[in-house]
Amino acid sequence: MADTKFKRIGVLTSGGDAPGMNAAIRSVVRTAVQSGLEVVGVVGGYRGLVDDDMKVLYARDVSNIINRGGTMLFTDRCDEFKEESGLQKAIANCKKNSIDGLVCIGGDGTFRGAQDLTRRGIPCIGVPGTIDNDISATDYTIGYDTAMNTVVDLVDKLRDTCESHARCNVVEVMGRNAGYIAINTGLSTGAVGIAVEEFPFDADAIIDKMKRLKKAKKRNFIVIVSEAFGAEFSEGLAKRIGAETEIETKFARLAHVQRGGRPTLRDRELASLMGYKAVELLLEGKSNLVVCIRNEEICSTDIEYALCYDKLCKGKIKAEDIKGFTDEQVAKMVADAEIRRQRMYESYKIACEISI
Ligand code: F6P
Repeated sequence: MADTKFKRIGVLTSGGDAPGMNAAIRSVVRTAVQSGLEVVGVVGGYRGLVDDDMKVLYARDVSNIINRGGTMLFTDRCDEFKEESGLQKAIANCKKNSIDGLVCIGGDGTFRGAQDLTRRGIPCIGVPGTIDNDISATDYTIGYDTAMNTVVDLVDKLRDTCESHARCNVVEVMGRNAGYIAINTGLSTGAVGIAVEEFPFDADAIIDKMKRLKKAKKRNFIVIVSEAFGAEFSEGLAKRIGAETEIETKFARLAHVQRGGRPTLRDRELASLMGYKAVELLLEGKSNLVVCIRNEEICSTDIEYALCYDKLCKGKIKAEDIKGFTDEQVAKMVADAEIRRQRMYESYKIACEISI
C-alpha cells in the first residue's frame, strides 16, 4: 500500500446491523494494523462520534468475531448527527482523537453521513452493510446473503408443517422498500406467489393458481410478501387467501430474526474483501467513495454518484439531483439502472413461471 500521512483511522457501523459487519470491522482493523496505522473503534455509529465514545482497537481485539452476527461496535440511527451542530461535535471529536480518516459501514444513511464528514475535512470511505441489498451501486451488500439463508431456513420449516396440514403460509420478509430478499427467497423456496413493490402483484391470479394446484393435490403453499406493503396488506392477503381458496392460511412475520445469526461464508468473504479495500483506498489518499462489488470484482464508486444512481434506481430522482453530473454519466446511470432492474425482473419472472 502507498505511503501516507495517515497515522490513525476510525471505523464505525451505523444504521440497521447486518451479519458480516464484525468480519468487516476485523478486516479494517487488521489491514490498518498491518499497514502501521492505529485504529479507533467508534461505539454506536455516528452517536459515538458526537458523544466522543471511542476505543483503540488492536489486532487481538477483533479476534473471534468473524463468525459472529451483530456488530461489536454497536450501532444506532443518530438524529443529532444530521444537524449541523451534531456534525460539528463529531468533527471536533475526530480531531481531538487524531482520526485522519474513517471507514463507515452501513447503508445509504451511513453514506450520507460519510459524505457530510468528508465535505467538512474528515476523509471517509463507505462500506455497504445492510441485509436489504438496496445500495444500487453494488451487486451485493454485507448481510444480504445471511439474511436470505435465514429466511430460506425458516420458510423450509414452515413448508414442512404446511405439507403435513395442507396449509398456506404467507410470510412477510424484510428489505425495507426493496424486493431483493423477497424475490430471491421466493425463488429459492418455491413460493407460489411473491409480492414486491417493484413489479405488479396480481392477488386474483395467485388465488386462482392455488385453487388449481389444490385440485392437483398440492398440499403446501408459501407466499412471500415484502414488508414494503405494510402489515395491513400482508395480513389482509393471508385472510383473503384463506377465505377464497379454502386452504387454511397462517401469517408469519419473520422480522428481526433476519438480521441476526452467524454470517455465511459469502458475507464473511465480502466483508473481509471490502474492509481491506476501504483501508487501501484511504491509504491511497482517496475519500468520499463507497466500496462495491460488481461482476465479482471489488471496486469503488464516488458516494455522490452512488447516492444519485440509487435514487434513480428507486424512482426517486429529481432534476436537481443530476445537476452535478455530465450527460454521459446520467446516460450510464440510466443504462445501468435498466440492467439492474432487468436482472431483478428475470429472477421474479422465473420464480413465478416455475411455481406451477
Ligand atoms: O435496513 C434493515 C432493516 O432491517 C429493514 O429491512 C427494516 O425495514 C428496518 O431495518 C427495520 O429497522 P429497525 O431495526 O429500526 O426496526
